[in-house]
Amino acid sequence: MKRYKHLAESVRFKRQGGHWRPLADNEKLVFAGEGRSAAVFRIEGTEKALKVFYPDKVHIAKEEADIYRLLSGISHFPALHESGGTYIVIDWVEGKTFFQCLEEGIDISARHIQEADYALSAARKRGLNPSDVHLRNIMITEAGSVMIIDVARFRQTKDCMNWEDIKAAYSTYYTKPFFPKRWPKYLLNMIGILYKKRLLPVHRPDHAKNPQ
Ligand SMILES: Nc1ncnc2c1ncn2[C@@H]1O[C@H](COP(=O)(O)OP(=O)(O)O)[C@@H](O)[C@H]1O
Ligand SMILES: [Mg+2]
Repeated sequence: MKRYKHLAESVRFKRQGGHWRPLADNEKLVFAGEGRSAAVFRIEGTEKALKVFYPDKVHIAKEEADIYRLLSGISHFPALHESGGTYIVIDWVEGKTFFQCLEEGIDISARHIQEADYALSAARKRGLNPSDVHLRNIMITEAGSVMIIDVARFRQTKDCMNWEDIKAAYSTYYTKPFFPKRWPKYLLNMIGILYKKRLLPVHRPDHAKNPQ
């Protein structure tokens, strides 16, 4: 039985300014965040998150559910509780994304970077190819550990350098005393765009091109 199907179906999307806007009028759903593929809600009174995919991205629901099954048991990834044609239900992660940490001046420590590295190598050991690991897809929990959310692109064959770039930027800039620990959102978004266009100099170690 699909316990959360009715909740997923209560979420509607409206196209606005080239983006999908979620319309959820169910009091059981508390909006938590959105990305390129979906909107995410906390299910009231539970430790679960409902990720409902945009109408043109619903095919990703099954892919992400399959990947969560492959990652099952690795503590740095949320567990999957249910999946349906347009949605998945996973562990709720109480915490902040790396992006929010930068916005709010919350310290990202070297241990956090190592934990994320460990999580991604554990995923590789299960035959996956972690992709799309960016600042909004890595969270630091209230207890201080790292959780990686949004694994939909972990079976992509194309090599993705996002995580290697974050690590390189962390050691090149973030750890330096002059580097501000707090950044306004618009600047972070702008840096992200410059980064994608390869307009920012970051030194990546050679072995990063083929991480184990
Ligand atoms: N399990 C979760 N617990 C808490 N917040 C979450 C969870 N999953 C996603 N979020 C929030 O929702 C945002 C969008 O989720 P994400 O899975 O990255 O969607 P997309 O695939 O569209 O990028 C995240 O950046 C994060 O802020
Ligand atoms: Mg995301």
